Amino acid sequence: MKLLQHLAVVLAAVVTALGADPPLPGWAFTNTMNGLSLKQPSKLSEASTMDSPTPRFSRLKHIKGPVNPASGLSLATRQVRAATEDTHPQNITAVGGFSTQYAIECTWDGLPVSLLFDTGSSDTWAITEDFECVGSLGNVVDQADCKFGSQFVNDFAHGEIEGTHFSLQYGSGEEVWGPMGYSDLSCGGLSVSKQQVGLANHTYWRGGNKVTVGILGMAYPSITSAFYGDLGDEASWNSKTYSPFLTTAIGQGTMEPLFSVAIMKNSSDGILAWGGLPPIPYNRCKNASADLLIANLIGEDDTASRSSFYTIVPDGMRWGSTTDEAKYPYIVDTGTTMMHLPPPLTEAIVRAFDPPATYMYQYGLYFVDCKSIPPLLAVIIAGVEFYIDSGDLVYHDIVDPMTGYCAVGFTNGGAGPYILGDVFLQNVVAVFDVGGAEMRFYERK
Ligand SMILES: *[C@@H]1O[C@H](CO)[C@@H](O)[C@H](O)[C@H]1NC(C)=O
Ligand SMILES: *[C@@H]1O[C@H](CO)[C@@H](O)[C@H](O)[C@H]1NC(C)=O
Ligand SMILES: *[C@@H]1O[C@H](CO)[C@@H](O)[C@H](O)[C@H]1NC(C)=O
Ligand SMILES: *[C@@H]1O[C@H](CO)[C@@H](O)[C@H](O)[C@H]1NC(C)=O
Repeated sequence: MKLLQHLAVVLAAVVTALGADPPLPGWAFTNTMNGLSLKQPSKLSEASTMDSPTPRFSRLKHIKGPVNPASGLSLATRQVRAATEDTHPQNITAVGGFSTQYAIECTWDGLPVSLLFDTGSSDTWAITEDFECVGSLGNVVDQADCKFGSQFVNDFAHGEIEGTHFSLQYGSGEEVWGPMGYSDLSCGGLSVSKQQVGLANHTYWRGGNKVTVGILGMAYPSITSAFYGDLGDEASWNSKTYSPFLTTAIGQGTMEPLFSVAIMKNSSDGILAWGGLPPIPYNRCKNASADLLIANLIGEDDTASRSSFYTIVPDGMRWGSTTDEAKYPYIVDTGTTMMHLPPPLTEAIVRAFDPPATYMYQYGLYFVDCKSIPPLLAVIIAGVEFYIDSGDLVYHDIVDPMTGYCAVGFTNGGAGPYILGDVFLQNVVAVFDVGGAEMRFYERK
């Protein structure tokens, strides 16, 4: 039985990989994205041409803490770990320190809860009062060790779904499972009735921050993790795809099929807006759109481990007077603080700092004289240059005690995946037009 299950999973992975093959427009390179397959999702509607501010928005509260378990960074560090096990051991712990978690306030059947906002996973769940917190060896430990917030959700207002459970593992190894049912969920003025959700009664959780009690998953339905049958019977043939929060909201027809995100510079808090743009100043005329691609993990031997990322292929990068038009896919990820760039670009851009930045193995990051002048750096999307404020390229609060140098806002992404993290998202309004299968960007003022 186990062998058959494995075979089914491997076949599914091969089919996914083959299905991802059609050439993508404007993207002709031979590198794969290091364990990820790229797909163009189908359009549900024409891309919106009238982005306007919406009154429905939520604050995304920045939480210092461990790596968001489903962020692009979790995936990247895992790939690095796999690829460089004994050659160049990057300091994963140190890199992990520079990830970001965002909490969003929602109500769950009327109860206020704080959830981790996550664009890399699809399931929405919260912990129940008597949940089992387990350690790395599967041993039951004190609930406090999982470091969740203190609000529990104990049942589903619209009932449990018999014979169905959710079970998932995140990029960083955390796992969670429990029953599923229907609840009313409302976040930032967007209400969804009878949403299929999970209540976690068992979890191995290192991503705790003592604030959030679960996850609001914003990715596509293809990676939802509901299964028929008993716990432990998870396999691709008994998985049961369902409509996650965002898809249900779109289906209930109460908003344009998109959401947008802007990360604030100072506080690192963010704003999430439903169906339009957040009410912040932006330059309407400096905008660009790019095909929305979905990067899925491939070759996973465990169906319960799924991640999927909103990804684009920019035209290239510009720094100083140099333009590089090599095409690489980049995950657009609020859960990753820095940008993770391809090695040749990283090397060239760090040399363009005056004085240049140097790599510090012990952190897996670049550091530079805190007074160094960064090059003017832009990500080029559909011919439009989106400049990154030079103040965002040197972290004055991440200082190496030995040299007194400051960390640089991007790092070497190795063989991938490459990531446009918060450093980029602090300079734009990013529109995830899920309906139109497009991403749009506006320059911030
Ligand atoms: C957790 O939920 C699963 C799935 O519904 C169920 O089989 C299991 O008995 C529950 N465990 C506890 C400790 O409640
Ligand atoms: C950012 O915060 C610092 C210190 O908290 C403050 O001095 C500075 O004025 C703030 N900058 C902006 C643009 O709000
Ligand atoms: C994007 O910019 C172009 C050129 O400046 C402008 O004509 C267009 O109206 C802008 N699009 C939106 C949706 O604002
Ligand atoms: C990793 O980084 C941490 C924190 O900067 C440091 O204490 C540790 O010694 C580093 N480990 C290695 C193997 O370089």
